[in-house]
Amino acid sequence: MALKRLGILISGTGSNMKALVEASRSGCLQGLAEVKVVGSNNPDAAGLEWAKNQRLDTFSVTEKTRDARDLAMIEKLKPYNLDALLLAGYDRIVGPNLLQAYHGTILNIHPSLLPAYGGKGMVGIQVHQAVLAAGDAESGCTVHLVDDGVDTGRILGQKTVPVLSEDTPETLQARVLEQEYQLYPQTVKEFLSASS
Ligand code: GRF
Repeated sequence: MALKRLGILISGTGSNMKALVEASRSGCLQGLAEVKVVGSNNPDAAGLEWAKNQRLDTFSVTEKTRDARDLAMIEKLKPYNLDALLLAGYDRIVGPNLLQAYHGTILNIHPSLLPAYGGKGMVGIQVHQAVLAAGDAESGCTVHLVDDGVDTGRILGQKTVPVLSEDTPETLQARVLEQEYQLYPQTVKEFLSASS
């Protein structure tokens, strides 16, 4: 069977992108999918450099409004004829044009057990700060479909981690990230297998 064609959008470090690329080359996505292109809304995203060094196609768009940015993304992504578009630390809201172009095939990873600690402003270290402030015993990560809300699409997979009494937002973030690197490729595998 032909390999499924994946695109990844990042805004920063891209460690989840790296996990996905590695999974496609020698992990659970091997023989099932390949990463065709990595795009960003931030030309300085560190992950773009890594992707270039891996000889992956990369691009960035610098349009400032959501509609203009999404239309530019659509143009850049079109030639790759993607089966799924994976958001991996992409810090922009996906607007109606991009949603429609990849209807039902845009996935995102979020560093909490959604629906808890999702929505506008719940990004990065703030998520882990909120979990600690609430005194929760568990946290984790979620892969979900992207819809027209923020972190509201259908949940495809979750992994939990314990919250420890000595945790700082940073130590909790690191524990959750380790699980993200397992969860994202595994959930993409299940998603692609179910849709083929
Ligand atoms: C991850 O915690 C992810 O869940 C969230 O943004 C962070 C991205 O980190 N959406 P990285 O760029 O993949 O290293």
